[in-house]
Amino acid sequence: MSVYLDHNATSPLRADAREAMARAYDSGANPSSVHGAGRMARAIVETARGTIARHFVTRAEDVVFTSGGTEANNLAIASAQAAGAKRLIISAIEHDAVRDAANASGLEVETLPVTADGVANLDWLDQRLSGWDREADGTPFVALMAANNETGVIQPVEAAGRLVREAEGLFHVDAVQMAGKAVFDFAGSLAHYAAVSAHKCGGPQGVGALLLACDAPISRQMHGGGQEKGRRSGTENVAGIAGFAAALDAVQADEASRMAGLRNELQVRLESVEGVRIWGAGASRLPNTLCLSATGWAAEIQVIAMDLAGFAISAGSACSSGKVKKSRVLEAMGASAEEAASAIRISLGWTTTQDDVDRFADAWMREYARIRPRIAAAE
Ligand SMILES: Cc1ncc(COP(=O)(O)O)c(C=O)c1O
Repeated sequence: MSVYLDHNATSPLRADAREAMARAYDSGANPSSVHGAGRMARAIVETARGTIARHFVTRAEDVVFTSGGTEANNLAIASAQAAGAKRLIISAIEHDAVRDAANASGLEVETLPVTADGVANLDWLDQRLSGWDREADGTPFVALMAANNETGVIQPVEAAGRLVREAEGLFHVDAVQMAGKAVFDFAGSLAHYAAVSAHKCGGPQGVGALLLACDAPISRQMHGGGQEKGRRSGTENVAGIAGFAAALDAVQADEASRMAGLRNELQVRLESVEGVRIWGAGASRLPNTLCLSATGWAAEIQVIAMDLAGFAISAGSACSSGKVKKSRVLEAMGASAEEAASAIRISLGWTTTQDDVDRFADAWMREYARIRPRIAAAE
């Protein structure tokens, strides 16, 4: 069995989530049905909603279940557009689920830059919002993710939220990577919307939620049976929702510090290698994520070499097409084209052991040492 170090792509299903899902599947009814079996399915959904709301410090009635983080991000942007946003500000490091949704809206999209450490530049945001022309540009809309999927860099969402609230704008946080790895306090973020997804924290794929502030306008995109209080039609994914809540409950109190310990050890070993650059090391990061460039060693070749050696890692951001694109996130942080093309992401999680990390560091360093003379000769 290969060692899995790609938890930011999907974190394997936790045992508690699997059990909760099996129980929910056994209930086998539609939560909108009025009979006893339906009411049992409804109880599963509503209990899970309460649990998820508690984890993200919000109210159960403000959790709208979706098919995942992508749909939740799309729903937030469409809702802001319907509420009068004509121009969107999104950070330079947003996931495609935000970036493509913003571009597809047909609205003007502006980029909020980040520093060399990958942290959103709030002076830029402050200035931009001060000069906002509400008449021409409508309600300001700002999207800033809670933590980046490639570097793990945690963003100053609360401070950004304050600026957006002062400008009477709408603020969206993609919290997909933060959820379950660090505390994501939705109320404290001052956001109108936040996207979360179950499979990034050991729940199942294909279920997530949009969290809504009580003053957040919402415009439904899925029309049909009026589920989720009319905000998102479609029969709820009862087992998926139960698995999401159980995964969040299963996160151990010491999990983050255990991962940070392993990640830091790994970083110390790998950054001692000539030609290695660690990204976002000067900023506060998710405890599980390590992003590095290895000069001259193309990311896709590293991923294949490590796969052959029995380790699952990823190149920059995992692409749904299976193609490796050079990292936009690192370019926004000032990386050269070569650095961006040689960046890999190692993301630890609840399954990761000390032995996994030690063996990975040995294998990666051995392989880089083996091919370095060839890289040097080609330079
Ligand atoms: C930051 C971020 N946002 C959104 C998504 C999309 O979430 P989902 O896979 O649940 O649609 C991902 C998945 O990689 C992500 O990392």
